[in-house]
Amino acid sequence: MAKPRSSRPPARKWSSSTMILTMLIIFTFLALILLGLGIFYIPSSDVGNSPKPNDLTSIAHNIVDRSHADENREKLWVEVISWEPRASIYHNFLSAEECEYLINLAKPHMRKSTVVDSKTGKTGDKHGEGLQVLHYEVGQKYEPHHDYFKDEFNTKNGGQRMATVLMYLSDVEEGGETVFPSAKGNTSAVPWWNELSECGKGGLSVKPKMGDALLFWSMNPDATLDPSSLHGGCPVIRGNKWSSTKWMRVHEYKIKQPS
Ligand SMILES: *[C@@H]1O[C@H](CO)[C@@H](O)[C@H](O)[C@H]1NC(C)=O
Repeated sequence: MAKPRSSRPPARKWSSSTMILTMLIIFTFLALILLGLGIFYIPSSDVGNSPKPNDLTSIAHNIVDRSHADENREKLWVEVISWEPRASIYHNFLSAEECEYLINLAKPHMRKSTVVDSKTGKTGDKHGEGLQVLHYEVGQKYEPHHDYFKDEFNTKNGGQRMATVLMYLSDVEEGGETVFPSAKGNTSAVPWWNELSECGKGGLSVKPKMGDALLFWSMNPDATLDPSSLHGGCPVIRGNKWSSTKWMRVHEYKIKQPS
């Protein structure tokens, strides 16, 4: 076996200044890396005791202030309520006028739903599946279900339903919560637990509030279906419930011409 040294080109003589320069560059990089880590660390230490984003077993109450300069509108803020299913409340998403507008737009088209124990109406069909407006009177409810399709037929146009935006167009005096019976975590830890109906206490629940929008995902980040997105509408006990649903599809939803 040949001596490794003999095959090498003659070793270059490193001057001490080259050595110092090399060391300096290495140290600068190390310092930058450490600084970078430090900078990334500061915001997360600011949040203090809020749960880790990847901690899927707890309900997070991270509040992101997204208020804008428009004084006529209520403060818009986002509350993460669950990671399994992924769900957030966009508080004051719609103004009272916008809620009223949607209700009036749908009112003339309301008909008894065959799937839901309530009345539904569609607001035009220009925007894909369109906005669906639902009206629940006392005693009316929506049994727990998934928004995703389990068949091939429905996913042909537009693909799978990926996420749902559920907008509350009215307050409900009692009941009418949106309940996720399969949500992971301590569902009784929500601040509004004591205001929930019996049905609402059957899982993670969101109380309807006029203008609030609930966004939840039917799919996991890896595009598999999320069974924990099972959700239902609790029976209205007192008052009236108006809500509007917008489904987000994976692909573009093309309108079929009536034949
Ligand atoms: C769930 O949360 C409630 C309210 O914070 C608390 O009283 C209860 O002990 C918790 N349960 C569990 C199993 O952690």
